[in-house]
Amino acid sequence: MDMVLIQRNMLSLFTVFATLISLVISQGVLPDRNPTVRYPFSIDLDEGGAYLLRWGFNNTDIWFEVQVHTLGYVGFGISETGKMVPADVVVGFVANNQVYFRDYHTEAYSHPLSDSSQDWIIDYGYEENGWTVLGFHRRLDTCDTVGDRVITTDTLRLIYSYDAEDPADPDSLLHHDKRGSKPVALLTSSHPPRFFPDDSRVLDFKNDNYQVPENELTTFHCRVFDLTNVTQKYHIIKISPVLSEQTKNIVNHMVLYRCHMPDPSALLKTGDSFNCFTDAPDHVQFCREHVASFGEGKSDFYLPDDVGIPFGGPGESNVYILATHYENEEFLPGLVDNSGIQITFTSQLRPHDAAFLTMGNIISPNWAQFIPPGESNFLQKAYCSMRCLSWGFGGCSSPGASVPMTVVGVQFQTHSLGKAMKLRHLTYVAQNRAKENPWLANDKLHDGKQQNFRLLKNRQNVSCWDELLLECTYDSSRETRPIVGGWTHYDELCRAYVLYYPRKQIEGCMSWSNYDQMRNSRGEQVPGNDVFRTLVRTDWSTDATMRQNLKTSLDQSMENAQCWSSSPSKPVSYAVDFFRQPVITNKFSEPKTTTC
Ligand SMILES: *[C@@H]1O[C@H](CO)[C@@H](O)[C@H](O)[C@H]1NC(C)=O
Ligand SMILES: *[C@@H]1O[C@H](CO)[C@@H](O)[C@H](O)[C@H]1NC(C)=O
Ligand SMILES: *[C@@H]1O[C@H](CO)[C@@H](O)[C@H](O)[C@H]1NC(C)=O
Repeated sequence: MDMVLIQRNMLSLFTVFATLISLVISQGVLPDRNPTVRYPFSIDLDEGGAYLLRWGFNNTDIWFEVQVHTLGYVGFGISETGKMVPADVVVGFVANNQVYFRDYHTEAYSHPLSDSSQDWIIDYGYEENGWTVLGFHRRLDTCDTVGDRVITTDTLRLIYSYDAEDPADPDSLLHHDKRGSKPVALLTSSHPPRFFPDDSRVLDFKNDNYQVPENELTTFHCRVFDLTNVTQKYHIIKISPVLSEQTKNIVNHMVLYRCHMPDPSALLKTGDSFNCFTDAPDHVQFCREHVASFGEGKSDFYLPDDVGIPFGGPGESNVYILATHYENEEFLPGLVDNSGIQITFTSQLRPHDAAFLTMGNIISPNWAQFIPPGESNFLQKAYCSMRCLSWGFGGCSSPGASVPMTVVGVQFQTHSLGKAMKLRHLTYVAQNRAKENPWLANDKLHDGKQQNFRLLKNRQNVSCWDELLLECTYDSSRETRPIVGGWTHYDELCRAYVLYYPRKQIEGCMSWSNYDQMRNSRGEQVPGNDVFRTLVRTDWSTDATMRQNLKTSLDQSMENAQCWSSSPSKPVSYAVDFFRQPVITNKFSEPKTTTC
């Protein structure tokens, strides 16, 4: 039986492995890594820079180039989980002046199966200076439901493999030297502008030899930057992480905040540094405008060509705080950190002043967010309420209120249990009734380790009377204890950073459940001050009633909201709201993506 199988595979490899293009050997040049019109996007799939993926796409097709530091064979594919099986894969190599390339899929840890419909198509291939370069393309939806995965706006797990040798026999395809996977949202990434303004400059907001505590698992370190000397207005057009080799594995998240208070530089001086939570001076509460951030897995972010984040100039507050979140899981001693965020800015102002709106569940000592263990699809909601939003517009009858917020992109943030994220956009049609507009962003395969920015394919306007609803879905099926909202790795987050223009006077818009409809396992209403004690005391391994009660309560309880606002010249002010969750009458349903 095995023999026959191998024989058949041998046959299939060498008879149907498509021989397509004659090879052009060129010597002495490294492959071009720079963005081009055809390949605006690129990412290193491995750590060492030996496997570069470049790509481009339109509404129907996607085209790739892989540049791999090997003269052997190269594998590339898409998998649901990041594992090699099951997956949609291609394998290609260059040998005897010819390019071999084939569309496979894997169903088991054995030889990949050749797709009966060959939908990934080779465009070119060559070897150069020790590198193998393959260019290929396919339809986003090939209609091959057996062999191929539809390429959507979700965060897909790209898998790669390569080997030092070309395959000598079919089985060697299994034994690749190197392999790995990376979550990438192929269709929502940002790419470098067509023209980088020639006056572009960079500025680093970096920690200065900060000694990361060895006795703390989680540390939030804050450092002040006073840039009141920047008297001209600029636009930030690119945001990049600056990582140091020593600390890159413990820097979990960095955010650059702008401070709004009457005379910030009198209170905060460049180089001031402190623990953001335990010894921050009082006026740090005025530093809440999210200007830039870096999250795990994130790479350079380019603002789209027509928008920039204002930086410097008259009327702009120009004191910043870099907050760095370290997770020193191994309690390593002697780590010195110089990482931070680099901005690229230009005086050639773009048409729109953009800003971020921070949304999500508030993190509070009352554990506003509570996820029971053993749930594979636990839904948590957070609103930017209608009243908060209209407050940010300056009131819906104010002169500026007719200008909507045009949403450009969204960054989602959870920790490791987050598995899907959706930002919904509602318009009230009557008291407590809202209709739904198309989703602003939807990631059915969210990965907490990949906090990249997602640009909207079609920008969408959010008006003064609208409401935003963020839905975070978690998988706690492997947990044994409840998870609460919080900043450390062992807590969870439900957040979105919404990039929009023109800038409004609202920076944050959060909500949390009031749990007023929470019932205990006997069906009795739980008094507000007893909700968390009840949740914590519940035996989640046996109490199915309480699981249902918690979900019902989250759906039916009132929501509390807090929003905050500041303008360049005014200190932060807050508003609170208490509201009934709207009934969504016309739910948006995703248009069928497949045309097959
Ligand atoms: C999309 O790209 C494919 C492949 O390059 C091309 O054949 C097709 O015409 C393009 N479609 C549009 C609308 O440009
Ligand atoms: C402003 O001051 C900072 C810190 O002293 C310095 O790095 C920066 O170059 C100055 N910027 C300008 C535009 O003068
Ligand atoms: C959004 O609103 C702006 C300003 O009113 C308008 O120019 C633009 O066309 C609108 N865009 C969409 C997608 O509706």
